[in-house]
Amino acid sequence: MNKTMSGKPAPVYVDNAATSFPKPPEVVETVCSLLGGISLSPGRAAHRYSLECSRIIFDAREELAGLFNCADSSRIAFTGNVTEALNAGIFGLFGGKLHPGDHVITTALEHNSVMRPLRYLEKHGPLSISILPVNENGEVAMEELPRLLRDNTRLIVVNHVSNVTGAVLDIAGIGRRKGEALLMVDAAQSAGVFPIDVEEMNIDLLAFTGHKSLFGPPGSGGFYLRPGLMLRPLKMGGTGSNSETEIQPDFMPDLYEAGTPNTLGIAGLGAGVGFVRRTGLTAIREHEQRLCNLFLDGLQSLNGVTVFGPAAGRPRAAVVSLRVKGKSESEIAHALDREFGIMVRAGLHCAPAAHRAMGTFAHGTVRFSFGFFNTEADVAACLRALDELGRR
Ligand code: ALA
Repeated sequence: MNKTMSGKPAPVYVDNAATSFPKPPEVVETVCSLLGGISLSPGRAAHRYSLECSRIIFDAREELAGLFNCADSSRIAFTGNVTEALNAGIFGLFGGKLHPGDHVITTALEHNSVMRPLRYLEKHGPLSISILPVNENGEVAMEELPRLLRDNTRLIVVNHVSNVTGAVLDIAGIGRRKGEALLMVDAAQSAGVFPIDVEEMNIDLLAFTGHKSLFGPPGSGGFYLRPGLMLRPLKMGGTGSNSETEIQPDFMPDLYEAGTPNTLGIAGLGAGVGFVRRTGLTAIREHEQRLCNLFLDGLQSLNGVTVFGPAAGRPRAAVVSLRVKGKSESEIAHALDREFGIMVRAGLHCAPAAHRAMGTFAHGTVRFSFGFFNTEADVAACLRALDELGRR
């Protein structure tokens, strides 16, 4: 085990599905220099600091538009996180494209950021909801989609990559088969690792977070909205535009961006997306994939470890959920951190239906999620620690 000078184990961070760490140096530099460098109120005044902020935010929007192949960057609105983006989409459609009595399809792999708004509208809308089932490997049964589609299906909400199993959903396949329904995609775990092309995939609303594989700070995120589609805004207020009127502007992005934005977060996100685009999705994905495969191979020789998730050869992100025989998930996570310096996330990962499908409800699993800055040495440390814990 690598030890620090103090004799404590060197930290190994493998909780990148929760939030990425470390951030690329340019993200840290951007955020730190801005906070100490200029005032942070874009679009509200004509002085140089305000104009500089507006430029930074515009650049971040352009980076994201480039990443997602969105021709007009004003179709991207910033939010505080992906949960807010998904809520903006789901509640914002209600009363517009979505009405009481309409039908929505989602999957059993969804995070509570999708499930809870949908369950709320199921009760209070009311909407009817069908759930695409998940097999014991934690993969969505896509073949069930045609059977679930109805004449009144107005919306399909799916996550691209599961935060529990790493399973990857065929978004383009859904985009081809969705008929008249709108397609909303939760890209929390995929943006920055897997290619996302909103045109080719026929996506109507793409919700993303800034702080995972896009390497921005927490508190940054947003959504892309297809041209011609409108949401009822979740909040209204000052936008710095059309200030002569008491009516919320009806154009993007201002319509959805009331209030002074998180310029620091957006600037860091812009730097993070810049890093991703320069490094290349393929290089990022291949590195993470290699570490994940090393880990999965190593786990095979450990006694008492059960791995959940896609079978070998199936598409997956570098997220591995497992259990160790005879030990609780929280016990393993605690020992990994305290004794070995290894940081993971244990439990239900805010996705209880996924665990029900895999038979791991109600205690969940121990989740290892590798990121671009992890190394083979990190994987080896995780395997050694699990081996030792499994023998106790
Ligand atoms: N949804 C995040 C996770 O999976 C926070 O850990």
